[in-house]
Amino acid sequence: MKVSVTTIPLDELDIDLLLVPVAEGAVEATLKALSEQFGEIVQRTAADFTGAQDELIWLYPESGRARRLALVGMGPADRVDLERLRRVAARGAELARERKVVTAAIVRPQTSIDPESASQALVEGFMLAAYRFTRYKTDTSDLREIERLVIHETGEDEKASRRGAERGRIIAECVMTARDLVNLSPDEKTPTKFARLIEQSAKKYGYEADVWDKALIEEEGMGGLLAVNRGSPEPPTFTVLTWHPENALNERPVVLVGKGVVFDTGGLSLKPTKDSMDYMKSDMAGAAAVVGAMEALARLKIPLYVVGLIPATDNRPGENAYVPGEVIRMHSGKTVEVLNTDAEGRLILADALSYARTYRPILVIDLATLTGAQIIALGTEAAAVMTNNVEGAEERLQAIVAAGERSGDRVHPLPMYDEYAKLLESDVADLKNIGGREAGSITAAKFLEHFVDYPWIHIDMAGPAFLKEPKPYRPKGGTGFGVRLLVEFLRDFASPRRFSS
Ligand code: BES
Ligand code: MN
Ligand code: ZN
Repeated sequence: MKVSVTTIPLDELDIDLLLVPVAEGAVEATLKALSEQFGEIVQRTAADFTGAQDELIWLYPESGRARRLALVGMGPADRVDLERLRRVAARGAELARERKVVTAAIVRPQTSIDPESASQALVEGFMLAAYRFTRYKTDTSDLREIERLVIHETGEDEKASRRGAERGRIIAECVMTARDLVNLSPDEKTPTKFARLIEQSAKKYGYEADVWDKALIEEEGMGGLLAVNRGSPEPPTFTVLTWHPENALNERPVVLVGKGVVFDTGGLSLKPTKDSMDYMKSDMAGAAAVVGAMEALARLKIPLYVVGLIPATDNRPGENAYVPGEVIRMHSGKTVEVLNTDAEGRLILADALSYARTYRPILVIDLATLTGAQIIALGTEAAAVMTNNVEGAEERLQAIVAAGERSGDRVHPLPMYDEYAKLLESDVADLKNIGGREAGSITAAKFLEHFVDYPWIHIDMAGPAFLKEPKPYRPKGGTGFGVRLLVEFLRDFASPRRFSS
C-alpha cells in the first residue's frame, strides 16, 4: 500500500473514500468546513450526527472530487488517544474494503496528540486492518487490494505528519512480516526454512543473520534445544541477528530472544488437538516478533546496537524423543529434570538466554508464547511481563508497560516473588521444568531466571499472539504482537537523555 500526506484543499482530493473522524464537540465546526468544500448536502444529511463513538454517516457529495465521505464518530474529544486513532482508521479500512475501493484518505483530526504520533497511529491502524493472509487461497478474484492511503493534513504540520506516516507504514509492514510468518503453514517453516526466510529479511533490509546448524548447536552445548529437537526429523537452528549501526549509542547490545518452536505437539506429553495443538503453528510468534523488530530497527535506522537470538525447533514425539523423567544438561551447565515434554519453550529459551551472557548485554528481552496460564490470567488483551530483581527493575518495568500502552501491544506485570522458585526444586537435578498448576506463567519465568545474570524482561504472549476471533486491526490468526511494543520501547530506549551522561 502506498502512503502519502497531502495538504491540498479537501475538495481537490481525487479519492474513492474520504474518512472523516469526528470527536463529540467538533461536529459543528467539521460539518461547516465540509459543507464549504462539498456542498450544502453535508449539513442536511449529517444533521443528526453527534460524533458518538462508532457512529457512521455516509455522504455522497455534490461537489469536490471525492466519491464518498464517511463520517465516523470518535466519542468525547478528551478521550481520544493513540489507540482510538488506530481504531477509527481501522474502521476506515473496513469500510473501504466493504465498498471495494482502491484509494482512501483520512482527514487527520485536530486533537491534543502531536501530528507525528497521530499520523503514525492512523497509518498503522489502517494498514493493519487492511491486512489479509491470502497465500493459500486459490481464488482471490473477490478481494480488492487498497492501493493508496492519503493522510490529509492542514498547513504547518505537514512535515511532522509525513515523518509519522512514513514510520507508521514501515512499522505496519514489519508487523505484517511477523503475521505472515505465524500464519505460514508449518511445513513451510521447518527450522531450516524459517532460518532461510529470516536470512532473506536480513539481506533485504540490511541487518546481519548468522544461522547455526545442528553441529554448531552441539558444539555450543545447547542441551535444552537439542533435547526438545530429538523427537523431530528436522534439525534445529539457532539464528543470530545483528543490527549494529555506526552511530549506535550503546556499546553493549540490547539482546532480543524469541521462542521459535515452529510446531508444538507437546512431544510425548502430547497435546489434545482441539483448541490446543491446532493452534501450535503459532508457537514461533515470539521469534516472528523479533524478526519484525529487527526489520524495523534497520529500516528506521534506530541508533542502537541490537542482537536477536532465535532458537528454532519443533517439538514432536518421534521415536528418539526426550521423555518425562529424563535429566538434561543445559548450555549453562545446569541440569534439568524434564517432567513434562510440553514445557519445551523454557528449555530452548534458557539456552538462548544463557548464550546471551557472552554479549555482556545491557538488557535482554525475551518474547515467547510460553504458557497457557498466561491466557487464563490475561486473555488476549495483554501479554504478561516479568523482570528480574536487579538494578533498575522498577524503571525497566515502567518503560515496557508504557511502551505497551502507547503502541497498543499491551503488557501487564506479574510478580516474581522468591517463594515461587521453590515450586521448581527437583529431587534429582538442579531444577525441574514444571512447577505445577498454580501460577504457571510465573514459575515458567522463575525457571528462565536461573539462566540470566543481566537486566532482563520476560514477555509471555501466548494470548495476544494469535486470535480465533478478530479484533480491531487484528485479524484472526497471527497478530504480529510484540513488533510495535519492541519498536516503541527501543525508540524510547535510544532517546538521547539515556545516553547523554
Ligand atoms: N506453547 C505452549 C504454550 C501455549 C499454550 C501457547 C496455548 C499458546 C496457546 C507451551 O509450550 C506449553 O505447552 N506450555 C505448557 C506448560 C506446562 C506443561 C507446564 C502449558 O502452558 O500448558
Ligand atoms: Mn509446549
Ligand atoms: Zn510451546
